Amino acid sequence: MKILGLSGGTPNGANDALCKEALMGAQEVGAELEFINLNTLDLKPCTGCKACVMSLFSGKGNSCVLKDDMQWLTDKMCEADGIVFAIPIFCKTAPGLFHNIMDRFGPRMDRGNLMIAQKIAEEHGGKPVNPMYLKEKVVSYMGIGGSDWATRIQCDFATQALTPKWTLIDNQLFPWSLSIIMNDEAIAKAHQMGVDLANAAKKIVDGTFVPGHGIINEDYKGPAGVCPHCHSNNFYLQEDGTAVCCLCGTEGVMKNVDGKYVFEFDAEKWIPHAHDSIPGKFIHGGDIQRNEAECRELMQSDEAKARKAKYRDFIKSTKPC
Ligand SMILES: Cc1cc2nc3c(=O)[nH]c(=O)nc-3n(C[C@H](O)[C@H](O)[C@H](O)COP(=O)(O)O)c2cc1C
Repeated sequence: MKILGLSGGTPNGANDALCKEALMGAQEVGAELEFINLNTLDLKPCTGCKACVMSLFSGKGNSCVLKDDMQWLTDKMCEADGIVFAIPIFCKTAPGLFHNIMDRFGPRMDRGNLMIAQKIAEEHGGKPVNPMYLKEKVVSYMGIGGSDWATRIQCDFATQALTPKWTLIDNQLFPWSLSIIMNDEAIAKAHQMGVDLANAAKKIVDGTFVPGHGIINEDYKGPAGVCPHCHSNNFYLQEDGTAVCCLCGTEGVMKNVDGKYVFEFDAEKWIPHAHDSIPGKFIHGGDIQRNEAECRELMQSDEAKARKAKYRDFIKSTKPC
């Protein structure tokens, strides 16, 4: 059983330390370890060209056209049975470095897209999806903050797990962390996270792991949160009085009952749409496919070509010489 530790902090800083502490916990359970500081890699931002997903749906695999260390990192992540991320909190959420990895994963590593591509390959020939990309995986996240400004990071973390449909084992905040190596309580918490992650990863290797309907399963150790489906605390409050869970996308009403928030939604209607579930991904994939087809047709018209030319020719983008 292999556990990979990924740190987004400065070399030998607080993030590296807590990540390594979790790896020490995983080692106790018998894990083989690997550690990578993400800042040592060349990871470019996704440009949105969508070549990866076009290629995937044409039976040609899901390679990215950008030439950097992302494919190497993807293979490292996919080989592992479990991953523990230690990511610094920037501006209340995850830094661009983490977002680059998240963006480069979706849509090429989206579990729903990979399952559709696999079916296309089986029925019409073409390159089969690398089985490593569809392997079950458990993941835990640590958000390491210099202060306690941290209201969006756990939702960002779980959003990353949602794309490849990795199972979330833990999702914890470590505020006021600059001298975290002197905080025995925080060190014990990180250590336990490694133990819990490795115990869950062991089930994958033993063949006893049962994935949840969404990204949460019975091994989840994170905060209970407000959303009863995905445990997120982040909601988008709409002017009509409804609320949308920012992570799983279920829509309902937020109530305050005996001083606690209770999110009520029609489970029969919304669970099949949940963004972290396979049925929800297929619904979303179908919506995108329909929209792409309509868009392709609309953009063939002379009127659309003239409008495109108007914006292209109005002003050119400048860059340093
Ligand atoms: C651009 C930037 C923004 C930051 N924003 C936050 C923040 O919103 N909340 C917070 O708790 N810490 C914030 N910090 C502090 C970092 O989380 C902290 O420096 C980092 O976790 C230290 O980890 P390291 O020792 O592993 O490098 C910010 C730091 C930087 C550089």
